[in-house]
Amino acid sequence: MVPKIHSLGGYIHEFQKSIANPETFWAEIAEGFYWRKRYDKILEWNFEEPSIQWFKGGKLNITENIFERNLYTIGSQPAIIWEPNNPEEQNRILSYNELFEEVNKFCNTLKKLNVQKGDRIAIYMPMIPELTIAMLACARIGAVHSVVFAGFSAASLADRIIDAEAKMVLTADGGFRGEKITPLKNIVDEALESCPGVETVLVYQRTKLPVNMVSGRDIWWHDAIAGQSEECKAEEMDAEDNLFILYTSGSTGKPKGIVHTIAGYMVYTAYTFRNVFQYNAGDVYFCTADIGWITGHSYIVYGPLLNGAKTLMFEGVPTWPDAGRFWDVVDKYKVNQFYTAPTAIRSLLALGMDHINDKDLSSLKVLGTVGEPINEEAWHWYHDHIGRNRCPIVDTWWQTETGGVMISPIPGIIPTKPSFATLPLPGVQPVIVDAEGIELHGNSVKGNLCIKFPWPGIARTIWGDHERFRETYFSNFKSLYFTGDGVQRDEDGYYRILGRVDDVINVSGHRLGTAEIENAINSHPLVNESAVAAYPHPIKGQGIYAFVVCGELSTGGEEGIRKSIKMAVTNLIGPFARPDLIQLVPGLPKTRSGKIMRRILRKVAEGDASDLGDITTLLDEDVVVKIIDGALVEVKR
Ligand code: WT7
Repeated sequence: MVPKIHSLGGYIHEFQKSIANPETFWAEIAEGFYWRKRYDKILEWNFEEPSIQWFKGGKLNITENIFERNLYTIGSQPAIIWEPNNPEEQNRILSYNELFEEVNKFCNTLKKLNVQKGDRIAIYMPMIPELTIAMLACARIGAVHSVVFAGFSAASLADRIIDAEAKMVLTADGGFRGEKITPLKNIVDEALESCPGVETVLVYQRTKLPVNMVSGRDIWWHDAIAGQSEECKAEEMDAEDNLFILYTSGSTGKPKGIVHTIAGYMVYTAYTFRNVFQYNAGDVYFCTADIGWITGHSYIVYGPLLNGAKTLMFEGVPTWPDAGRFWDVVDKYKVNQFYTAPTAIRSLLALGMDHINDKDLSSLKVLGTVGEPINEEAWHWYHDHIGRNRCPIVDTWWQTETGGVMISPIPGIIPTKPSFATLPLPGVQPVIVDAEGIELHGNSVKGNLCIKFPWPGIARTIWGDHERFRETYFSNFKSLYFTGDGVQRDEDGYYRILGRVDDVINVSGHRLGTAEIENAINSHPLVNESAVAAYPHPIKGQGIYAFVVCGELSTGGEEGIRKSIKMAVTNLIGPFARPDLIQLVPGLPKTRSGKIMRRILRKVAEGDASDLGDITTLLDEDVVVKIIDGALVEVKR
């Protein structure tokens, strides 16, 4: 296992060491892993190009660090504890030995199907152990996985398959979520109509939903793996070879394929998992995220498994069969660390105490949150009613691009403060800069959150578009990685994340670009143009407020068009991106040069138009008055 911080003094010591000499700090942690060949150089970097290489020249395989390195001690211990959607169905517990055999079998299956080192494999699967098996098999043979969250539409899936040039798709007939079944294979079929590069589709039978198997392309999972050997030697990989691509939204329309490489990501997720959750051998750890997002990659799959941990994988939803489901799962497996999103906490809080009072919850030691700012009410509720005043809460700030947690309390060691992510982990060097890029030193400051030195888990590029990577993260402020978040450092030096400062909206912890949603809305034949802004939403954190200009109304009238706009967004992105509020407006506030003044729309959506700032460049003030008059939220004038 990687080293663990035990005390406040230990944290301060490690942090100072990591600032004084980041290279030796990380090299000492890297020592604990199994390398086929030791690296030649710990770090080579510049944030101008940018170019970042950790453990250069090292040869390894991340799965040898999960399996071969640990099997002799923990082989018979549970690796994955899988809880199905339906509590009546049999659960599955895979030991490290069993998981290893399944991964090897799948490696041999992929090889037989002609998958080579460096090939991209798209994975569009429900939360079942085979999803993890597939990811690890890719990693073991050197293929690059690109997991697409199974809530994305066919169009979004197709975009991602095409961008990554994936030659194979792994899916299931369907996925259970509460009372619903998502017809995953049908969605894949629709997506593949525009993806001629895909040669093979493997289909796991999960729901028995009828599917259409295309001959020559589609193969049942169970047929493909039948008779495959349970042994497969891991491919020797370079430290900086690609491990995976994961798409995320930015402020422009097209999603970005964030690329993580092997060794740095391995060291970083392993170290942060152990410390942020204070995981000890034997503990049961439960993260409620979907593996389709980075939280699942780093803290259901790689971080826990690299530590030999027992990681719980839950197929279902928090409110089915009832709103006590998370807590039933916690009690059933005596979960010690529980990690979820503020939006889940808020939605359960709203459903009252009936589903909590009869639960034990005494196994819990650490509670975590991730994905969005947590409001104080939700924090206290989580602390008092789930943690029963015994469990520290780790409010973990990080991003798809950072690979792992960056700013977070170390539970039981760093005193927490509601709504604060508190302090950077060792090895993380945050800085706050103003709009001009001037660093704001000292405490009690507010500004843009940047990081000034690389950590091993930082993304290396955007797939196929390194220039966009440079431009998005390294061009705003010289020689700094820019996170896109606003931040406050309070009088104690504690960090509080204030939310995005770019055109990104955070809906229930899902990151969405306004441009992406607008593109989807604009695809509607009756829409001339649109602009999207966030508004405070009691459960989702931020809701989506769309201002839409239509040419004429169809026969369905205003309600009809609202419905069909939502449908368009569902079809192009997915149901989670549907606007909550759609206001039909006569025009958008624009400058004389035709630029939309988003600031005004943001203020209206937030319900405060009392100070619109400088509107001298505004082309038509009347439009603004009409927008405020017809607003769907109460607006202070
Ligand atoms: C954005 C990254 C990292 C896994 C899940 C989201 C916001 C994340 C926090 C937090 C306040 C947070 C930021 C960040 N965010 N964690 N603890 N407090 N905001 O990953 O989809 O890449 O989104 O989520 O705005 O930039 P992601």
